[in-house]
Amino acid sequence: MSILQTLILFSLLLSASHAAVQDFCVADLMGPQSPSGYLCKKESAVTVNDFIFSGLGVPGNTTNLIKAAVTTAFVGQLPGLNGLGISLARLDLAPGGVIPIHTHPGGSEVLIVLQGSICAGFISSANNVYFKNLNKGDSMVFPQGLLHFQVNAAKGPSIAIVSFSSPSPGLQIVDFALFGNNLPSALVEAITFLDDAQVKKLKALLGGTG
Ligand SMILES: *[C@@H]1O[C@H](CO)[C@@H](O)[C@H](O)[C@H]1NC(C)=O
Repeated sequence: MSILQTLILFSLLLSASHAAVQDFCVADLMGPQSPSGYLCKKESAVTVNDFIFSGLGVPGNTTNLIKAAVTTAFVGQLPGLNGLGISLARLDLAPGGVIPIHTHPGGSEVLIVLQGSICAGFISSANNVYFKNLNKGDSMVFPQGLLHFQVNAAKGPSIAIVSFSSPSPGLQIVDFALFGNNLPSALVEAITFLDDAQVKKLKALLGGTG
């Protein structure tokens, strides 16, 4: 094959692979969501605002049981994230605030403290515990699926930004899963070894019944 033929072949291959590449797949939020994300909005309907979310500049409302707020920039808020394997959230922790132990089944997380000080940690599948007080500018990674938590360690409010390796990492908080639904108390007691009074107290606190 001559050099010219080789070049032509390469440019054909390149243009073919270019044609196959999709720049983005902005989520059609009205359509179904599958494990690989949403279907794509027609490009003619896509606007710059599909790639922008301004909510992370606004402090979340921490007047609640956990004295904390999680403001998400997941695909539902930022449809341009669809298919890209990334997302963000903002954590606001008032004094005494806590993000109770939870997991994101769909993605790993990396946190950076913007203000204050946060005691953060996770528990491995081998039940080893990794936790530390993080100060402004410190980052910590929480591997996908593992149980983890954040507790405000400052006297004032603390703020962190977290990013995820998924546009829909999901969020399951253990206390709400155990005590915030209608799983019968007797079963909760059997699977947690807690006594009836403690389970009833937590169900009342977290909105559970049964
Ligand atoms: C924050 O949430 C509380 C409890 O739901 C509510 O009473 C309060 O009005 C909210 N504050 C703001 C500024 O939205």
